[in-house]
Amino acid sequence: MKEIQITTTFDVFNSIVELPNKIQNLIQQAIEIRKKAYAPYSHFRVGAAILLDNDKIVLGSNQENAAYPSGLCAERVAIYQAGAIYPEAKMLTIAISAASDSNPTLSPIPPCGSCRQSIAEYEFKQDTPIEIYFMGEKGEVYKSDSINNLLPLSFNKNSL
Ligand code: THU
Repeated sequence: MKEIQITTTFDVFNSIVELPNKIQNLIQQAIEIRKKAYAPYSHFRVGAAILLDNDKIVLGSNQENAAYPSGLCAERVAIYQAGAIYPEAKMLTIAISAASDSNPTLSPIPPCGSCRQSIAEYEFKQDTPIEIYFMGEKGEVYKSDSINNLLPLSFNKNSL
């Protein structure tokens, strides 16, 4: 028997003003698109903005459905849109902001497991890390240099 240890690391910023202008702009776009989420059931709005290496920014917000499992998270709306429209581009950075309509969301909200798996797919596809910034509606921002911090020991194309 042996033990393996996997360390994950995040940078924590007190607010978006501590970040470079380009990242502040990306987060601001995630915040704006969050407000357009279609979330009549959960009243929980999420926005995602992805910066590509061709300088395009692709946006997504969560889209819910009366048949609950048919809805989709903001991150996957954005990442699949980026994959569909710009299949050759690399994804450099994804910014995520989440807020509830009913109570303040002041701590950083990380992407769900399915979104982590989807982000991992594109990180492995492009063989270049995707930076991930996530936050609530305001306040602290967490940054990960790669999906590996959020999804260590991932199932990916090398597993097949
Ligand atoms: N949601 C996201 O958009 N991203 C996540 O990573 C977690 C959850 C959405 C799905 C659903 O519309 C609402 O938030 C409540 O779960």
